[in-house]
Amino acid sequence: MLAGTAAVAGSLGLRLAWAEDGVVEIVAAPASLKLAGPQGPESALIGFDGRVPGPVLRLRQGELARFRFRNLLDEQATIHWHGIRLENAMDGVPGLTQQAVPPGGSFDYQFVPPDAGTFWYHAHVDSWSQVSRGLFGGLIVEEADTAFGPLHDHLLVLADWRLNDQGLFDAASLGNAMDWSHAGRIGTVLTANSAITPDLAMAADQAHRLRLVNAATARVLKLTLAGAQVIARDGQNLANPFPMPPKFVLGPAQRVDLMVVPLPGQVLELAEVSGDPLVIAVLSALPSAAGTTPPRLMPAQLPEPDLANAVLVPLLMQGGALGRLKGVEVAEMHAMGDMAATGPIWAFNNVSGMVAEPLATVGLGATILLEMVNDTAWDHAIHVHGHHFRVLTRQGQATGDDAWLDTVMIAPGESLKVAFVADNPGDWMIHCHMLEHSASGMDTWFRVSQAPLTAK
Ligand code: C2O
Ligand code: CU
Repeated sequence: MLAGTAAVAGSLGLRLAWAEDGVVEIVAAPASLKLAGPQGPESALIGFDGRVPGPVLRLRQGELARFRFRNLLDEQATIHWHGIRLENAMDGVPGLTQQAVPPGGSFDYQFVPPDAGTFWYHAHVDSWSQVSRGLFGGLIVEEADTAFGPLHDHLLVLADWRLNDQGLFDAASLGNAMDWSHAGRIGTVLTANSAITPDLAMAADQAHRLRLVNAATARVLKLTLAGAQVIARDGQNLANPFPMPPKFVLGPAQRVDLMVVPLPGQVLELAEVSGDPLVIAVLSALPSAAGTTPPRLMPAQLPEPDLANAVLVPLLMQGGALGRLKGVEVAEMHAMGDMAATGPIWAFNNVSGMVAEPLATVGLGATILLEMVNDTAWDHAIHVHGHHFRVLTRQGQATGDDAWLDTVMIAPGESLKVAFVADNPGDWMIHCHMLEHSASGMDTWFRVSQAPLTAK
């Protein structure tokens, strides 16, 4: 019955071991990678199944997936299934939804993914360090009838690495307080599926789905790909696909699915254009016999927020370099492995670190209207666990954007209103996905009760 619920995509040429009882085994283990290109030295990293990125996990929408996670590292670890609206106990947050898995230990994750799309999985213990060192991978949830066949479905897991003069992973600068109080740890090399500027071959005149995951701990990507259509964001298909703008912002942890139809003989470049253009991947058209009509993805179906009855939850971002942390309370760290390294630098609502009591407790099915204000001099990538939200306003102006996101970028001084239906019971984190910011205080959580709360 479990056969086929989870398997590995061919794109990285990887295999998963199948445990005896049909559960897919996934291990965290030491790994190595030549980060400066095939001629460079091997860096000592960590990875799922000892690979960086970890194997691409393919699940099916609405079908049970079971994983046995074994921790072969000499540090604690967990797996967080980023963006999957799963059962709270499977969310992988140490101290909130489970105990961290000790060295040599294991934990069984099982869940039914409700949405088809592009997700990723990553470490959630000291993620500022573990994700920086490679503990992440791509995760695809397939729709029941795959609109794009295997030859038309491509995934690039984008990662940002800081290398030292020897071309090795710069471990010495992990935990650098300067990075933490500024834009986070920014690298010197961008890889796509662990390669520098890989080449993807795509049949000409046919529609291809290109899934991108920003697995960087802090780097905000501004992407360009001529002629591409944006068809899904953060694992949720758009009702209204749109042409990719010339500098599409893909923040840490965000995903985007693009549709590309290469012309015969065309060579396209996916480039990062924050500064001088940097080519991330080359897409070359292969001759093909016949064209196809571009498939249309089923738009995501999520519950509509009920704004008239929403619970207002303020989320004020504070601290960082040039910011103020005066008068802020420092939470006892609530057993979060995540936040020990530099002490408080950032805060939400005058508290740095995980509050002991939830930011808000709402009844099952209530609409939450998060009122975010960024009172810092830095960008943040705010992630809500277990839910997807709509961005209603930016600076008080309606966005008109009907995408469902799990992570949103907010610029210095900006205010944003986002709304979602709290339809998933349990304790859910909200944090900055610039993982250095999270580790130094930008964390909080909310509770969704098991039943609707009745009005008093
Ligand atoms: Cu992708 Cu709490 O994180
Ligand atoms: Cu941040």
